Amino acid sequence: MLRHLAPLIKHLFVFFRLKKAKLLKMTIWQALLVHQSATPTSATSRESARVPTVVIPLKGDGVAEIESNDQRSECWRDFTDVLDAGIARVLLYGPPGTGKTFAALHFGVSQVAERLVCTEDLTTGEITGTWMPAGEGRWEWREGPAIRAWRDQAGLGGRLVVDEVDRASGDALSTLLAMTDSVESARWRNPQSGEWVRPGPHFSVVMTSNMEDLEDIPLALRDRFPVAIRVDQPHPSALESLSADLRSPALAGSLGDSTRRVSLRSFHAFDQLRHHLGVERAARLVFGVSRATDVLDALAIGELR
Ligand SMILES: Nc1ncnc2c1ncn2[C@@H]1O[C@H](COP(=O)(O)OP(=O)(O)OP(=O)(O)O)[C@@H](O)[C@H]1O
Ligand SMILES: [Mg+2]
Repeated sequence: MLRHLAPLIKHLFVFFRLKKAKLLKMTIWQALLVHQSATPTSATSRESARVPTVVIPLKGDGVAEIESNDQRSECWRDFTDVLDAGIARVLLYGPPGTGKTFAALHFGVSQVAERLVCTEDLTTGEITGTWMPAGEGRWEWREGPAIRAWRDQAGLGGRLVVDEVDRASGDALSTLLAMTDSVESARWRNPQSGEWVRPGPHFSVVMTSNMEDLEDIPLALRDRFPVAIRVDQPHPSALESLSADLRSPALAGSLGDSTRRVSLRSFHAFDQLRHHLGVERAARLVFGVSRATDVLDALAIGELR
């Protein structure tokens, strides 16, 4: 009995010592709930202890519990299942730093994907290709990423990743629509050779956007991408790439509203910097002066578990 109570007393001691009321109220509950779920007292609780309990901070001081890994990574399961089912046009959208681009580049592809990052200045030439000097006053047509992706894998077609698609406008947007049309309808003519090019049968496109709301994506584009997945949490393998003590804080930090969110990139930078500069300086540099203490306090509680 006393053995089980000792960690709770330790947590409470730290709570009063550190006096970081708001964040700590949340993290102490987190620590206690995780402790509870990790302390098997019967056959049933031993079963449930195998599924790690994740405590998600809500707006304000409340906490909500999600009980299974499956539920936790539903958006990622959706993405994999949709690709496995042969859907070749997917839009990933949602908060920054959750791994949308990484997944678009690496999941469901057997070779390196072609990548386009949209800006307001993106030109048609950067999508389909452009004339380039070839020496001795000659010019040759250099095909762009969209056509290269059409032709990849010896003509079977590869993956085109279009990042920040909501930023493309005007001619570039029209060209993107043409390039992402169905394999049956899309075609393009090489201005140098006159060759008509069509996307290979395995050509796929994953677009990404930071838009929080699907309504903000141009309608014509949404129509080309009937499957849109809101990615609201880091991929489990992205969390695993962090040191073990940072995984829970990184998951918790990536949830919640935009004012409190801490992206995976910050945790990666902190993980790297702390080995060189020490935790306090690393936390100040990465999370800022006002947040550094809170993050360090949350990590200190984690260590006591
Ligand atoms: N599955 C993963 N395994 C390992 N590292 C990952 C994984 N997913 C993402 N990362 C790393 O996390 C960081 C953020 O990922 P990424 O750039 O894909 O996020 P994003 O959702 O596209 O962000 P943004 O919306 O700002 O473009 C990157 O440094 C990336 O390398
Ligand atoms: Mg991205």
